[in-house]
Amino acid sequence: MGQLNNRNVIVGITGGIAAYKAAQLVRELQDLGAEVRVVMTRSATEFITPMTLQALSGNPVHLDLLDSAAEAAMGHIELARWADLVCVAPATADFLARLCAGRADDLLCSLCLATGAPLLLAPAMNQGMWRDPATAANITLLRERGVALVGPADGSQACGDIGPGRMEEPAVIAARVAASFESRLLDNYRAVVTAGPTREALDPVRFISNHSSGKMGFAIADACASAGAVTTLISGPVRLPTPNRVKRVDVISALEMYEAAQAAARDCDIFIACAAVSDYRPARPEPQKIKKNGDSMQLEMVRNPDIVAAVAERDNRPFMVGFAAETNHMESHARDKMRRKNLDLIVANDVSRADAGFDGDNNAATLFWPGGKREFALTSKTQLARRLVEVIAQQVDLAGSQEPTP
Ligand code: PMT
Repeated sequence: MGQLNNRNVIVGITGGIAAYKAAQLVRELQDLGAEVRVVMTRSATEFITPMTLQALSGNPVHLDLLDSAAEAAMGHIELARWADLVCVAPATADFLARLCAGRADDLLCSLCLATGAPLLLAPAMNQGMWRDPATAANITLLRERGVALVGPADGSQACGDIGPGRMEEPAVIAARVAASFESRLLDNYRAVVTAGPTREALDPVRFISNHSSGKMGFAIADACASAGAVTTLISGPVRLPTPNRVKRVDVISALEMYEAAQAAARDCDIFIACAAVSDYRPARPEPQKIKKNGDSMQLEMVRNPDIVAAVAERDNRPFMVGFAAETNHMESHARDKMRRKNLDLIVANDVSRADAGFDGDNNAATLFWPGGKREFALTSKTQLARRLVEVIAQQVDLAGSQEPTP
């Protein structure tokens, strides 16, 4: 699997001679496994055609902020949410200045303002423009705001000058994109994540389940592994590829998930329960297919064990993170669940929203812990997972009770 598998990367192209190298960058990112969409400024189209980028990326190229056809398909807010990272290459002096000023007068700048995804810029310009105090001040400001830069490189320039200002080579930029998904936040920790639904059998062909796709839990396992944790993912039945460097344990029912969780919890520093576990199961699953008989049928259900609460009861319990799927009174319900299940942190998501929660690619969440709270607006599950892992890493450090594995 490529380093950028399951990563959504937007390549922003602004109007400089290095724009032609963006075509190679798209290829390099795809070779690493990324899904790429391209956003171009109008002046970029003077240097390379949208058709080239469309053919390479396999997706329509996004050009205009006020294009009703494009907005209907994927407007700037959808693009902002879709992106796990926005890489602008080349980033001209003018683009840097407009980004600093918070301008939103074209698609690329608006997208950069709207997104919660990290920004990586590959500046490219004449060496005099790069050295100008105005550009230097803009670069300083952007860095202070957490924007990352790759390059520029030093050398001979298209204009004949020699000096700093050449856009970094596409392979170097692609490597930086891949590296920016890695952190060492959970180095030496062992994380266990539960994900997906459980299925509770009625008979050999029927079951009770729910709409969990596993996307949120898989994204969290991926983010834990990218942050350096040795990660085990206990998954209910879903159709998702296993993230890189993650050990996967497949289960079907809540009882199987319980057993797998108990086994994995023995070697675990952080336990994250994202699975949508059936609270009840049929008391007596039939060994043969149930035949129709009369106008109604009675089904006796019995309670499943609470997996996350049981792990939280263990001696030397890991740092415990639960999820709360709520439709109302989010904070009080979530905090109550956190106390009842003896958790250190709970991630509440409003599953009454059509655009978040079960099954879709996006989610919004509010994290609660004793004495604290953090809200994350709607964004991709990948992006949200990375943010959650940052907060979890902070809280694990603060808790101090979980010593990293020697
Ligand atoms: O999988 P996706 O389609 O991406 O959707 C993600 C999600 C909406 C399923 C996810 O974000 C989420 O909210 N997961 C928890 C869903 C849930 O079952 O919530 P709950 O409020 O019923 O359970 C509270 C907590 O107890 C959860 O951490 C749950 O994993 C855990 N639990 C519940 C019951 C049980 N028997 N054992 C448990 O461990």
